[in-house]
Amino acid sequence: MFPNCLKHPSLNYFSFSKCHTMATFTYSLAFFFFFLAAISMASAQLSSTFYDSSCPKALSTIQSAVKAAVNKEARMGASLLRLHFHDCFVNGCDASILLDDTANFTGEQTAGPNVNSIRGLDVIDNIKSQVESVCNQTVSCSDILAVAARDSVVALGGPSWTVLLGRRDARTASLSTANSDIPSPTFDLSNLTSSFSKQGLSVSDMVALAGAHTIGQARCVSFRSRIYNESNIDSSFKTSLQSNCPSSGGDNNTSPLDTNTPTSFDNNYYTNLISQKGLLHSDQQLFNNGSTDSQVNTYSSNSSQFNSDFASAMVKMGNISPLTGSNGEIRINCRKVN
Ligand code: HEM
Repeated sequence: MFPNCLKHPSLNYFSFSKCHTMATFTYSLAFFFFFLAAISMASAQLSSTFYDSSCPKALSTIQSAVKAAVNKEARMGASLLRLHFHDCFVNGCDASILLDDTANFTGEQTAGPNVNSIRGLDVIDNIKSQVESVCNQTVSCSDILAVAARDSVVALGGPSWTVLLGRRDARTASLSTANSDIPSPTFDLSNLTSSFSKQGLSVSDMVALAGAHTIGQARCVSFRSRIYNESNIDSSFKTSLQSNCPSSGGDNNTSPLDTNTPTSFDNNYYTNLISQKGLLHSDQQLFNNGSTDSQVNTYSSNSSQFNSDFASAMVKMGNISPLTGSNGEIRINCRKVN
């Protein structure tokens, strides 16, 4: 009840009820605004125009640095794309993957899927310092990862999409979540499906996103058991891989994920799967007489469908649990909290 109503014992029934109605109205209004504010805080949206006035040169600065890095080494495009994926799957796209270990802080870089494997941290450092020099402490490391992933795909001939911006950077990281939530190359279709579904991504998003393996390399240790123990693999493909990946030793020798065009972002990943030339066990799971075969068939014959589904799925992946508003921070150095 409205406190002022109680302070007037002389109020007759009519004025009491009027006062009561006003009180209820005032409370409802306050509740309504509180509710609106709560909703807008909970779902603070990313936006493509986020830096338009605060840092108009942000996107062009990132793009030219990515182009230069990819020109220097084409594989870097793949490595930058993967960094964004490994960031987003571990408590959201918050640049947690970039935090270095210190004496009293353990980050994600030594997690099984990352150690001796992730690349491009130095390129992100370089981009961040260029972006800092055009706009001091304005553009987050997590947004840089998202834009660099898009620019890498474009630099290697793939589709473009509008990157939503406004992520902020985490002050923490999680080694154990990196170990548990990044999918493993030993996963079967059902484990892969659960791993993506945990991030709010559908099976069809997963099949499209896996097309990222049209670029880049994998180490022998990631596919050894496939090329020595599995039967759903093309035999000449298998033999040629074995020459660079012995049954023991040579763990860090690399082979291309897409055997023919590893520096072009195209739909050959899917054609490979149909000819049993998926490099990883997990790749071949997407075309192994299961429910995802039909989507692989579609992408292998329709590259524009693949391009557009890949682009939409990247936007979805980039939206995983961002820190926005006053959560997190804009890191000055991507490798450490401010
Ligand atoms: C479907 C589940 C996935 C699994 C099990 C998986 C696993 C792997 C593994 C084991 C490697 C090789 C790492 C090494 O040997 O050092 C790799 C490389 C790569 N992955 Fe994935 N991945 C998956 C999905 C994705 C997604 C969704 C993306 C991006 C959208 C992606 C992008 C890449 C790229 C570009 C590389 C090559 C990186 C380089 O050459 O530096 N992967 N992945």
